[in-house]
Formats: sequence, C-alpha cells, structure tokens
Amino acid sequence: MTLLAFPLIFCCYSTLESPTATDVRSPCPGLNTLANHGYLPRSGKNLSIPMMLQAALDGFNVGSDSIIQAAKFGLLSGDAPTTLDLDALRLHNLIEHDASISRQDFALGDNLHFNETIFSTLANANPGVDYYNATSAAQVQHDRLAISLATNPNITNTPKEFLLRTRESALYLSIMGNPVTGGGAEGVRHYLASISMLTGDFNNRFVQIFFREERMPIEEGWRRSNITITAETMNDMEGIIIDNSDWTPTQLCEDLVLGPTLTI
Ligand code: HEM
Ligand SMILES: *[C@@H]1O[C@H](CO)[C@@H](O)[C@H](O)[C@H]1NC(C)=O
Ligand SMILES: *[C@@H]1O[C@H](CO)[C@@H](O)[C@H](O)[C@H]1NC(C)=O
Ligand SMILES: *[C@@H]1O[C@H](CO)[C@@H](O)[C@H](O)[C@H]1NC(C)=O
Ligand SMILES: *[C@@H]1O[C@H](CO)[C@@H](O)[C@H](O)[C@H]1NC(C)=O
Ligand SMILES: *[C@@H]1O[C@H](CO)[C@@H](O)[C@H](O)[C@H]1NC(C)=O
Ligand SMILES: [Mg+2]
Repeated sequence: MTLLAFPLIFCCYSTLESPTATDVRSPCPGLNTLANHGYLPRSGKNLSIPMMLQAALDGFNVGSDSIIQAAKFGLLSGDAPTTLDLDALRLHNLIEHDASISRQDFALGDNLHFNETIFSTLANANPGVDYYNATSAAQVQHDRLAISLATNPNITNTPKEFLLRTRESALYLSIMGNPVTGGGAEGVRHYLASISMLTGDFNNRFVQIFFREERMPIEEGWRRSNITITAETMNDMEGIIIDNSDWTPTQLCEDLVLGPTLTI
C-alpha cells in the first residue's frame, strides 16, 4: 500500500527544470517557481492573466481573488495588450517595491534576483523554533523597512507598498505552512504524520527552499495546500502582520481604486 502510494503522490507535481539562458524570471518567487515547475511556460514569456491564475491554483491552490490585482497591474509592465514577460515585472513602483524580503531596493542595486544578504533577515527570523508565523513575518517586514529607510534615500513607502508587502508575507506563510493560521508546525506536522512522512523540519525549511531555489520542496515533504488560499483565508494573518509591524508611511499616495469593492 505504502509502496504504491508514493509514486501516486509524486506524479501529480510538474517536473522541476532550471531556467535556460533565454528563459526569463521575475522579482516574484511565486511566479518563478510556477515557471520552473512548468505550471507556467518555462520561457517566462507571453503570460496571460488566465494562465497565471490557473498556474497559481494548480501549483499552490492560491485562488484568483488574492492575486488578480497584481496580475492586472502586471500587464502595464510591457506593451503587449494581454500578456507580460516575467522579467518586465522588475519595473520599479508598478508592483515591484522597496524593502523586499529577498531582493535589493531598486536605487541600491538589483531588484530582480534573489540576494542572500537581503534574505538573511527572514532566514534568521523566529529564532529558537522551526517555523515562521505572522508575528515573525511582521518583524521581518519591520526590520527590512528599517534597513531601507536607513540606507535608501530614494525609498518609496506608501500604503500601496505596505499592502503588497503584507499580502506577499501572507502568501509565503500560506503556501509553505498552515494556510489557516500562517503558523508552521501544526498543519504541516499533521499532514506529514498522516502520510507517514514526518521529517522533523517544518515551514522555515520550506520557505527557505522556495525563496533560495524557487522550487516546491516536494522531496522534503511539502504538499500543496488542501484548501484554496484566498484573501479571506489570509485575512487573520494579515491582521496580525499589520498590528505587529509598527508601520508608518514615508509618503502618502492618492486613494488607489483597485476594483468596485476595493480602494486603499
Ligand atoms: C501563487 C501566486 C503568487 C505567490 C505565492 C507570490 C509570492 C510572492 C512573494 C512571497 C513575494 C515577495 C518577494 C520579496 O519581497 O522579495 C512576491 C513579490 C512579487 N510578486 Fe508575487 N506571488 C504570486 C503571484 C504574483 C502575480 C500574479 C504577480 C503579477 C503578475 C506577482 C508579482 C510580483 C512582483 C512584481 C513581486 C516583486 C515585489 C517586490 O518584492 O518588490 N506575483 N510574490
Ligand atoms: C510573444 O509575444 C511577442 C510579441 O509580444 C511575439 O513576438 C512572440 O512571437 C511571442 N512568442 C510566443 C512564444 O508566443
Ligand atoms: C534617487 O533620487 C535622486 C534625487 O532625487 C535622483 O537624482 C536619482 O536619480 C534617484 N536614483 C534612482 C536610482 O532612482
Ligand atoms: C546583495 O545585497 C547586499 C546588501 O545590499 C549587497 O551588498 C550585495 O552586493 C548584493 N549581492 C549581489 C550579488 O548583488
Ligand atoms: C509565532 O511564534 C512565536 C515563537 O514561538 C510565538 O511567540 C508567537 O506567539 C507566534 N505568533 C503567532 C501569531 O502564533
Ligand atoms: C487538510 O489537511 C489538514 C491537516 O492534515 C486536515 O486537518 C484537514 O482535515 C484537511 N482538510 C481537508 C478539506 O481535506
Ligand atoms: Mg522589490
């Protein structure tokens, strides 16, 4: 039974391949991972909104409602009317923002590729336990912003950036940990125990592989969430992040109308 079950579990994830020299990638570890596994075209080029929404659902069980605004904004990164190329998403202050958790600020260096020095704030977060959660994500957002405020005279830090950063934190907590609590140990531990794959390392390891290698940590025991991750499921953890990140704007922006029921 067990022997038969393993191939069945592994068969359902698309194959991981490294990008080739002509493939393009983005400042988004989520989209890059989906392209590296073939949920998106491995070229990273000519991606439509329906392709990105379907890939997020198939790869991570992330529902459209939580990423559709980013996807629509993303079309403004290039001239094509209905598609985008992943590398164009580096366009500063469209979606790409300062105080990222794995990339440098635009004015200071490379805002596109993963940077281990920048990532060390998150890598070392929540010391003493083997998971990240909404409290540690808030601390990471606070500390990364403090570094940017101290070193980047060109920083952009308005409610728009804060909203994006908070949603991105909730996304990594949800896809790599427990999508209900944003905590690490509980959901993953129960799930691994239920399929006899208790490995002893939990979402911090998964989160690190996701950012550093832009892949799904399938061999390490990670599985796609069994519930669809939505704005609703991320609401509580985003509230904890907002309450604990001690955030103040550097500049204000005009109200951004993002849809018939969403203005920030
Ligand atoms: C399953 C879907 C997605 C996941 C899990 C995801 C996750 C993330 C995470 C964790 C970051 C933060 C990276 C950092 O701060 O260093 C990020 C950044 C970003 N995402 Fe996504 N994302 C998803 C979908 C999308 C979509 C649909 C778009 C637009 C087409 C998008 C565009 C971006 C961009 C441009 C950034 C860079 C922001 C910055 O850090 O400066 N993402 N994403
Ligand atoms: C992608 O779109 C560009 C123009 O936007 C076009 O020249 C190219 O042929 C397209 N590539 C593919 C693979 O569809
Ligand atoms: C940073 O701001 C200064 C002063 O406004 C400007 O001259 C410079 O071009 C900016 N640099 C970048 C990379 O945006
Ligand atoms: C990574 O970021 C750090 C801190 O900004 C910087 O000193 C370093 O040069 C960057 N590394 C690369 C490879 O860009
Ligand atoms: C996150 O983990 C830390 C360390 O275990 C804990 O003190 C904190 O209460 C946790 N936060 C949440 C929201 O569970
Ligand atoms: C999802 O997985 C968790 C953890 O194993 C389990 O408690 C829950 O019942 C599962 N939910 C569904 C809808 O299968
Ligand atoms: Mg950035």
